[in-house]
Amino acid sequence: MPGDKSMSHRSIMLGSLADGVTHVKGFLEAEDALATLQAFRDMGVTIEGPTNGEVTIHGVGKHGLQAPKNPLDLGNSGTSMRLLSGLLAGQAFDCVLTGDKSLSGRPMKRVTDPLAAMGADIKTTEKGTAPLYITGKAGQLNGIDYVMPMASAQVKSCLLLAGMYAQGVTTVTEPAPTRDHTERMLSGFNYPVKQDGSTVSITAEGKLTASDIDVPSDISSAAFFLVGASIAPGSDLTLHHVGINPTRTGVIDILRLMGANIEVLNERVVGGEPVADLHVVYSPLKGIDIPEALVPLAIDEFPVLFVAAACAEGQTRLSGAEELRVKESDRIQVMADGLKILGVKAEPTPDGMVIQGGTIGGGTVVSHGDHRIAMAFSIAGLRASAPITVLDCLNVNTSFPEFKDLVKNLGLDLTCYEEHIETV
Ligand code: S3P
Repeated sequence: MPGDKSMSHRSIMLGSLADGVTHVKGFLEAEDALATLQAFRDMGVTIEGPTNGEVTIHGVGKHGLQAPKNPLDLGNSGTSMRLLSGLLAGQAFDCVLTGDKSLSGRPMKRVTDPLAAMGADIKTTEKGTAPLYITGKAGQLNGIDYVMPMASAQVKSCLLLAGMYAQGVTTVTEPAPTRDHTERMLSGFNYPVKQDGSTVSITAEGKLTASDIDVPSDISSAAFFLVGASIAPGSDLTLHHVGINPTRTGVIDILRLMGANIEVLNERVVGGEPVADLHVVYSPLKGIDIPEALVPLAIDEFPVLFVAAACAEGQTRLSGAEELRVKESDRIQVMADGLKILGVKAEPTPDGMVIQGGTIGGGTVVSHGDHRIAMAFSIAGLRASAPITVLDCLNVNTSFPEFKDLVKNLGLDLTCYEEHIETV
C-alpha cells in the first residue's frame, strides 16, 4: 500500500521548518503530497527525491521560508491548502494559494475565519473559496481559544501551525476526535504541544529539530482492499505496515460491525505512530446503523464503505456525516447517484445515506474527478453482474497511482483508458 497522505504532507511541512536535515521513508509519491513538496521548493527549501519513497529535506528553520515567485498551485489537495493557509499567515511575505476546479469550490472560511480572529489577513473569493491571497503578518498574530464547529483535522492543524507564529497560547478544541498526526509529528520534532482531552494548545516558544520519519502505509488506501477482500468470495489478503492510529481506524471497526473478518497483526509503534499488518478474509456482510462516533474516524472511507453496504444483507444507515458533502466532491450525492445507476437502492439524506444491500448491476457512473469515488466504483466491479464504466478517473493519481495495477494483479478485470473524460 502507498504511504500515508496526511503524514506525507506533514513530513514536508515540518521537515522544511526544522533545523537540520530530515530523512523521510515511505513518502507518498502521488500528486497531492507532491504538490506540498513543490510548494516548499518554491519557498526556497532544498528537497531531494522522492526516490522510491525516500525524501531528504534540508530544513530552513522556523523563520527561513522565502517568498515564492508565483502563486502556489496546490492542485486537488485540501490538506495542502488548509494547512498552508495557517502556516503562511504569520510569515514575513505575501503569497497566493490556488488549486484545481474541485479545490477551488471547497469551503475555506472554516480556516480563514479563525485565522482572521488571530489577526491574519487572507482574502478569499466572495463565496469563501480559493484563490487565497495571504498578506504575511509576521509578529502580528495572536493566539486564540477556538472551539471548532466541525470535526476537522485540517482546521485543527491549520490553527496549530499558525499558533507556532502567534503571541500567547493558541488552543483548539474539537467536537470529536480527529486525526492527530500534526500533534504527534510536532512532538516527534521536539516542538511542545499540550494535549488535554479534546483540547490541544501550542505557542511560538519552540523550535523544530530535524527527525527521521518512517511513513506507514495509508489506511485510507488500504480501505479499498479491506472492502474488496471482504466482498469478493475466496479472498485472503494481508496488507503490510499499515498505519493504525486510533483516529483513523473507524473503517476497521465499521467493517467488523458488518461482519468482516479482519485481523490486526504484529502491532508495533514506528516513529510515534502505531502500525500493523492487516489480514482480511472474505466474509458475508450485514447492514448496520453506523455509530456516529465512528464517522470522523473513517471520514475518507465512506465511498468504499457504501459499496460494502450495497453488498451487505439488509439495510445500512449513515448519519452525522454532513462533512462528506464538502470533500473532493459531494460524496453523499455522487455515491448515491452512481449506486442508483448500478441498481442499488441508495437514498441520500442531508447528513448521510440509507442503503439497502442486494445485488450490484452494471452501468456508467461518474466520479466527478474524485479519486476515492473512482476507486470505490472500481471495487464495486468485484460484485457487479455486468461491467461498470467509471468516467473521469485521472485524479486517482492524487492519492494512489498504483491502484489500477494492484487491483489488476489481485484479479479485478479493469481496463483503463488514458484520455480524460470530462463530465457533463
Ligand atoms: C485530512 C483531514 C480530513 C480528511 C483529509 C485529510 C488531514 O479532512 O478528509 O483527506 O490530513 O488533515 P477534514 O479535516 O476536512 O475532515
